[in-house]
Amino acid sequence: MLSLADVTYHPPATARPILKQVNFTIQPQSLTLIVGVSGAGKTTLLELIAGLATPTGGKILWREQALQAVDLQELAGLVFQFPERHFCGLTVLEELRLGHPELTLEQVQQVLSTVHLSDVPLHQPPHLLSGGQQRRLALAVQLIRQPYLLLLDEPLAGLDWSMRQQVMQLLQELKQNWALLVVSHDTRELSAMADQVWSLEQGTLVPAGSQGQTLEMPCS
Ligand SMILES: Nc1ncnc2c1ncn2[C@@H]1O[C@H](COP(=O)(O)OP(=O)(O)OP(=O)(O)O)[C@@H](O)[C@H]1O
Ligand SMILES: [Mg+2]
Repeated sequence: MLSLADVTYHPPATARPILKQVNFTIQPQSLTLIVGVSGAGKTTLLELIAGLATPTGGKILWREQALQAVDLQELAGLVFQFPERHFCGLTVLEELRLGHPELTLEQVQQVLSTVHLSDVPLHQPPHLLSGGQQRRLALAVQLIRQPYLLLLDEPLAGLDWSMRQQVMQLLQELKQNWALLVVSHDTRELSAMADQVWSLEQGTLVPAGSQGQTLEMPCS
């Protein structure tokens, strides 16, 4: 169980805090959805939870114990927006083993099966996969590290209807084993599977609904 307690982010370069006293808890096997317009601070929040930036106030806690950035880097796996743009392996196998040459073929096959990519040849170049397959590979790259929490930045952005369905189905499955935190400017499809929905407005987190409710949010 991961909690944010009064997390604030106010880098010296900005006149106002980007995040102000953000509080919420992420339960295991759940999906938390945070929505907000462009510039609301969604990606910044994920970077803090992933240990890529450090809050200027408040704490991020794991079972009441305050975590440092290095702990968060182990605990959380961040899938960036448009993750396929960051692929650097020449093959699917290489992409999954980047930084982890010790991973066995069995571990690689297992994670590919989790994201329904077992049929893809290991020597396939990632850029030759379909858009939906690339998103699933990006998830596998994080899952293979066995994080507690998966952080997803706009996981449906730029996908057509059928690829969105593939990714949503997979998120629904991953929720059975992982804690997921999804940020998006668009609630339409994801709010139905969310266990908690928050809205990020001017740096403050506001409850936006509960399980299964459809929200009327303007799309940016
Ligand atoms: N380190 C930083 N220093 C100064 N300003 C920053 C820093 N990081 C982010 N910002 C600013 O904070 C605000 C929030 O940015 P962020 O990228 O987190 O928003 P977002 O909700 O992810 O937007 P989008 O939907 O466009 O991805 C923006 O105004 C951004 O320019
Ligand atoms: Mg963003």
